[in-house]
Amino acid sequence: MDTLRIGFMGAGFIAGIHAEVLARDPRVSVHAVIDPDLQRVTTFALNTGAAVVPSLDDLLGEVDALYICTPNALHADVAIHALDAGVSVFSEKPMATSIDDARAVLDASQRARGVYQAGFNRRFAGVYRELKHRLVSGDVVLSSALLKMNRGELRRPAWTGDPLVSGGFLYETPIHMLDLTRYLFGEPVEVVCRARSTVYDQLDDFSMLFTFESGASAVFATSAHATWLFPFERVEVYGEHAAIVTEEMERITFSTGDQQAALTLDFAQQPRDERWGYIEADGRFVDAICGVGEPAVSAAEAFATTQLVERCYAAAREADAASPSA
Ligand SMILES: NC(=O)c1ccc[n+]([C@@H]2O[C@H](COP(=O)([O-])OP(=O)(O)OC[C@H]3O[C@@H](n4cnc5c(N)ncnc54)[C@H](O)[C@@H]3O)[C@@H](O)[C@H]2O)c1
Repeated sequence: MDTLRIGFMGAGFIAGIHAEVLARDPRVSVHAVIDPDLQRVTTFALNTGAAVVPSLDDLLGEVDALYICTPNALHADVAIHALDAGVSVFSEKPMATSIDDARAVLDASQRARGVYQAGFNRRFAGVYRELKHRLVSGDVVLSSALLKMNRGELRRPAWTGDPLVSGGFLYETPIHMLDLTRYLFGEPVEVVCRARSTVYDQLDDFSMLFTFESGASAVFATSAHATWLFPFERVEVYGEHAAIVTEEMERITFSTGDQQAALTLDFAQQPRDERWGYIEADGRFVDAICGVGEPAVSAAEAFATTQLVERCYAAAREADAASPSA
């Protein structure tokens, strides 16, 4: 088979990570890139050997697959355009910044010749693979859970502070945890959410409570201005005299029973692209284009995660309207 030609829309931070991973895959070549930032696009082209092209249509004419690595609000239209042009799409999270746009991407993926995959890399990080394995194998049956994912600031990159571009804070980093909530525990049957705008001119502090069909529940707290004080990402799962605790994507510890030793798996020595799940996510996207397996995070999955984001915002608005101070 000929080498697959990969294009990049956006040559910033995450584009660099994917390009480095793809450079080690003999099935693909990083072929072309577009980004209005001259310095970034030039550096990316020098590092990867990609050609800089002037427009999206030029890019789509030259590639088999497109990595969408632009700010959030620019994902959906480009994904639809690429899928309709017969080009496979790896879209960084989020799929879209509204439910209507997400549905339009889902529709485009269903009529497309190519494949669509969303960039929810945490599903493939060692700690979360191990956590999923422990839940699926029944080692721990979820009774309740505690999740947190803080962001230090909404200043770097600057567009993350503009909700018109990011879609709002939940569409930024916390969407990873909302995706993991669904992936690990299933679809919540009930969502309760309280949110406030404290430091930024948007909702930037959230407390959420999810209830699942089994009656089990999970709470999720996320703040947009916590500084980068460690730990900023953590999951604790409780079962019958059992618990699993993750610390960042570095370590997972699980109890083996009351008064038993606990076991810790430490991933800290893995390189970040492996530890954070990027290598597997990118490899499975290329596999799917080559007809080996399905995309690792399908358009239907990314759509369902967008629905959960919107349910949280809707629950926050409802709670706010019902509050005595409203
Ligand atoms: N999965 C993850 O772990 C992860 C991590 C970081 C970012 N992301 C996501 O990746 C995306 C990019 O984030 P980032 O941190 O790389 O941001 P960034 O600001 O570093 O890079 C974005 C790039 O897009 C370029 N750009 C803006 N408008 C463009 C346009 N119209 N056409 C082409 N390029 C354009 C910018 O010039 C910039 O170089 C975001 O959607 C973000 O949510 C995902």
